[in-house]
Amino acid sequence: MSVKPTVLKLGGSEITDKEKPLTPNLQIIERLADEIAQAKVSSLIVVHGGGSFGHHIAKQYKLTEGYSDPSQVVGFSETHRAMTKLNSLVMDSLISHNVNAVVVQPSSCVVMKAGRIQSMEKKPLIRMVDMGLVPVLYGDAVLDSDKGFAILSGDQLVTSLALNFGASRIIMGGDVDGLYTKDPKVNKSARLVDRVTLEELKTQKHDIEGSKATDVTGGMLGKVRELIPAIEQNIQVLLVNATKPLRVYKALRGEEVTGTIIERG
Ligand SMILES: Nc1ncnc2c1ncn2[C@@H]1O[C@H](COP(=O)(O)OP(=O)(O)OP(=O)(O)O)[C@@H](O)[C@H]1O
Ligand SMILES: [Mg+2]
Repeated sequence: MSVKPTVLKLGGSEITDKEKPLTPNLQIIERLADEIAQAKVSSLIVVHGGGSFGHHIAKQYKLTEGYSDPSQVVGFSETHRAMTKLNSLVMDSLISHNVNAVVVQPSSCVVMKAGRIQSMEKKPLIRMVDMGLVPVLYGDAVLDSDKGFAILSGDQLVTSLALNFGASRIIMGGDVDGLYTKDPKVNKSARLVDRVTLEELKTQKHDIEGSKATDVTGGMLGKVRELIPAIEQNIQVLLVNATKPLRVYKALRGEEVTGTIIERG
């Protein structure tokens, strides 16, 4: 890519109601589309999570455990279908705000091995970004050469895209202000960490947990673990609360914003 891209994740935690199956947060999707349009980032890749469209069905059919029974196959199909429905809401909003967004379906261009990305078709993505298009990918059910199939989290996808395309930075939208000393939804004493290095993450023992909601890919703990290879390569990660207006906009513009910066240090 001629310009180093920014990789932005819209978490399932803000674009859906994770407590209620198949429930989008349409107002938040619309506002985020507007913020992305206003920010006018020259080289951008968007990934969105599954929220209550992905995790519930994937859990019901035990897709993260891989293929063990023919009765799961319909679960692959249903998980992917639900994700395409959420994705089309995101796409409609982005395009109606004049973002030149184009869907890239992970189930069609990624193969996994034992739950990790083994290969991804890169050429179309490079050409899209250079053409001024904004590729939009999402957490998805994906075929796996060891396990039959697996769930590819939006978080794993973000790091893989950032590493493969030499991203300048990663912005992770979520439903909390950033990384806290404990899960802020469970512990009132949790404090927001505004900046942390990898070394500090390892030694300070922040209490990073999964998710109170259904999340088959490990909630905040899974997210931070997935991001480590990108941070090790000096790609800065910024976690912001995308349920609050202008946080994603400011992050995209490189302006000061409430959130957590994770860097190699
Ligand atoms: N130390 C922590 N700091 C911040 N959040 C934490 C922490 N520990 C656990 N969490 C929880 O992690 C949740 C975010 O993870 P979750 O996987 O649910 O969101 P998401 O990745 O946006 O959704 P999706 O996986 O559908 O894209 C927060 O809502 C928060 O309650
Ligand atoms: Mg998650």
